[in-house]
Amino acid sequence: MDKLKIIGQRALHGTVQASGAKNAALPLMAAALLTAEPVLLHNTPQLMDVRTLSKLLRSLGAQVEQQGDALRIDAAAVDHYEASYDLVKTMRASVLVLGPLLARFGQARVSLPGGCAIGARPVDQHIKGLQALGADIVVEHGYIVARVATPSGRLRGAHITTDMVTVTGTENLMMAAALAEGETLIDNAAREPEVVDLACLLRRMGAQIRGEGTSQIRITGVPRLRGATHRIIPDRIEVGTFLCAALATRGDVTVQGADPAHQDALLDKLREAGAQITTGDDWIRLRADALPAGRPRAVSVRTTEYPGFATDMQAQFMAVNCIADGAARITETIFENRFMHVQELVRLGAQIDIDGHTCVVRGVPQLSGANVMATDLRASAGLVVAALAAEGQTLIDRIYHLDRGYDAMEVKLRALGADIERIKTSPGA
Ligand code: EPU
Repeated sequence: MDKLKIIGQRALHGTVQASGAKNAALPLMAAALLTAEPVLLHNTPQLMDVRTLSKLLRSLGAQVEQQGDALRIDAAAVDHYEASYDLVKTMRASVLVLGPLLARFGQARVSLPGGCAIGARPVDQHIKGLQALGADIVVEHGYIVARVATPSGRLRGAHITTDMVTVTGTENLMMAAALAEGETLIDNAAREPEVVDLACLLRRMGAQIRGEGTSQIRITGVPRLRGATHRIIPDRIEVGTFLCAALATRGDVTVQGADPAHQDALLDKLREAGAQITTGDDWIRLRADALPAGRPRAVSVRTTEYPGFATDMQAQFMAVNCIADGAARITETIFENRFMHVQELVRLGAQIDIDGHTCVVRGVPQLSGANVMATDLRASAGLVVAALAAEGQTLIDRIYHLDRGYDAMEVKLRALGADIERIKTSPGA
């Protein structure tokens, strides 16, 4: 298991390139199952999660190959319809193959993901929505076993209102409805930019979709979809992580290839903390080298669905608050157990009290390096931000979590002046 060694208190300076969004790439890759023609996805990030989904698509019979910065997926020869527990337990987003397999082949067998480090994360809304579209679904032996039970063999459009806003739930239902008979209305739909990116690819494939980016998405099903070429949107969470790192180290960083329109909630909070932010069409610059108090100001946040403050930025923003001037309240409303990083931040000298879904962070002038453990993807990113700001050396263990969702993070940070190094551990060591 690799570790990251970080010597903190080097201000980050320079320009860094954002990668394509993990949480767009995964549903877009699953969408390639909806057609027998190739789908080419440019700007696909090099990540463990992308490799895991590639493996799953290959196990179904698809061809997946890297062509430069693009991933080419050809699902013409798919003849298996099962996502095994071994794959789904390593990556919950594997459940995204359920809707497409069911819509194109009339059957799917997908393992239930089980709990995860950040909460229970059930998939009942995916199942309920697909049942409304005419699927027969039973859960047996830990698997969701789904079949299309309509006389025509196609799913049929329906009005679905999800009980809560769910990102991958909305995506699964959009993909299923794209090949259904008739019209589907998804109410209470997720409005995330990644959902909009999926609609954009589906439309290029010939789907009829309206309303993406709002909480009502209308889809008129078509019998067949075609291949398409698409460029994946920038990873707003990776972008946000670099901006938090720049603020925590009092640096001056420009992130290229970003979409500022996706970052409103975060940019407002970073400004409130004292950062100077400027933006262009595809870049964001954060300057924190001349903070009035020499430290960021403490800023409270409450995570909510897009366009609110993203739960995926909570740990990184908490890390900034750890060294801020004043006290902040961080409230997590999306996942029930997403404060696993708190005890690790405390090991770095942070002062944080947890009360249910809220943490009170009292900023300290300086964190001090220590050995810490990553517990999930964004928790790891929070620890990296804190370690970059801390005095002395931090060793972060279990960074495979980070590799799931960040493309060459230590290489990018080193280019910005961070003292960061991956320590490879040989198997069995
Ligand atoms: N929920 C249910 N039932 C469902 C679906 C969701 O109870 O059927 C609950 C969840 O347990 C959670 C809430 O609804 O409490 C929202 O979950 P959502 O379904 O929106 O999460 P997700 O689709 O599983 C995606 C991202 C996550 C991100 C969340 C929230 C992907 C592949 N994953 O997960 O990303 O945190 O939306 O924005 O898009 C990450 O990248 O680190 C990550 C965890």
